[in-house]
Amino acid sequence: MGYNVAVDGPAGAGKSTIAKLVAKKKGYIYVDTGAMYRGLAIHFLKKGIDPDDKDAVAEACDDADVKIGYENGIQQVWLNGENITSMLRTEEVGNMASKTSAIPAVREKLLELQRSLARNEDVIMDGRDIGTNILPNADVKIYLTASVETRAKRRYDELREKGEECSLEDISRDIQERDERDMNRETAPLKKAEDAILVDSSDMTIQEVVDTICSYCK
Ligand code: DC
Repeated sequence: MGYNVAVDGPAGAGKSTIAKLVAKKKGYIYVDTGAMYRGLAIHFLKKGIDPDDKDAVAEACDDADVKIGYENGIQQVWLNGENITSMLRTEEVGNMASKTSAIPAVREKLLELQRSLARNEDVIMDGRDIGTNILPNADVKIYLTASVETRAKRRYDELREKGEECSLEDISRDIQERDERDMNRETAPLKKAEDAILVDSSDMTIQEVVDTICSYCK
């Protein structure tokens, strides 16, 4: 078994930014499980599948082959042989991923892929159910959160930097809807594992969050 650090938390809490920096500092592999759900979401979007049609989503899982690899230490996602990494981080894909990740067949499809990565390597893995469900015996569990206002503002700044037009209200509403779905679904909802360390990054700098998490890790 590798050394495993689980980081869970709501959308926009800074999980990927922080986990990447901790990975670099500690020499772990960073595993972004949201990217796997986003990869499957692209498959469903390409097929024109209605995310509310659970049977159609479950059936479409059968002909999706999601693979993860690393190029210069950066995680890449392949869907049926095509590298789709650059297509993952749009609002459309994120919303589709949030809706379809509530469907058990989707979660089952990715469970073994996630566990096998953690079995063989020292990893810091981020997602929603890593500490509660995927890696219940992780060496360190972090629940990283921040206020809705902080998370919306960070996302807004990120999109504006990329030159995308957006409104703070729309992003804030989107984040709240996503929280609602991720936290209240029946299968593997987002919640803090009992033995997870709560880190609220609302009033912390990136460096402070990284240092705090590193202080708990080997
Ligand atoms: O972290 P992210 O925004 O890239 O994740 C996209 C969606 O995927 C998120 O709304 C919920 C889902 N997800 C999940 O259900 N379980 C995970 N371990 C990771 C992501």
